[in-house]
Amino acid sequence: MLTALTNTDMSHVAGSPLEQYLGTHPSALAFVQTPKPPPSSFARESYFGLTAMRFITKDGVARYGRYRILPEAGNEHLDPAAVAAKGANYLFEEIEHRIANEPVRFRLVVQLAEQGDTVDDVTVHWPADRTLLDLGRLSFTEPVLDEAHEQKWTIFDPIPRVDGIEPSADPLLELRAAVYLLSGRRRRAAPE
Ligand code: HEM
Repeated sequence: MLTALTNTDMSHVAGSPLEQYLGTHPSALAFVQTPKPPPSSFARESYFGLTAMRFITKDGVARYGRYRILPEAGNEHLDPAAVAAKGANYLFEEIEHRIANEPVRFRLVVQLAEQGDTVDDVTVHWPADRTLLDLGRLSFTEPVLDEAHEQKWTIFDPIPRVDGIEPSADPLLELRAAVYLLSGRRRRAAPE
């Protein structure tokens, strides 16, 4: 019997296959138990890339790193009472208003691995003191007008296919790229 599952009510799955799975997979359990307080805005949340990529300079020097996208407006999270007072769609409504008034900006940084850090398993965190290297700035200045159409056609590819950034040896990458392509093709083929 699992105890003290925080942030997620698991009482309805006691003894279930899901509970048995979490009981035998500590890294999945750790993820489920980690608090995930909702942000006040998509513009006030930090986003953590899990998969390590290999970044190569023009002189051929390679370092592994994980992306982070950090809000220039700073992080702001809500407590349960504040979330309960909001509508189910508050994040999407808020970002539309915000972006109509000002650009939404993020810092794009890369957390650099040191020699010996695990780079092919997303469940292994790197020490908090690893260097954060600034790559640039993302500015979102207007909403996508025909969002439903764009969502139907966009297919997410987890493998970077650009010069100078290579995938790590994470075994999930190839599988995910193949699954997302299948899923995306089905979505494109579905009636409007
Ligand atoms: C490290 C593990 C994984 C990460 C970080 C991850 C992350 C993501 C992300 C960011 C998306 C795109 C969401 C969006 O478009 O808004 C996605 C979509 C998806 N993922 Fe994963 N994923 C992981 C593992 C998997 C695995 C193992 C499977 C199944 C074998 C899977 C199945 C899917 C499917 C079916 C979609 C929807 C693709 C589409 O229709 O465009 N994911 N995932």
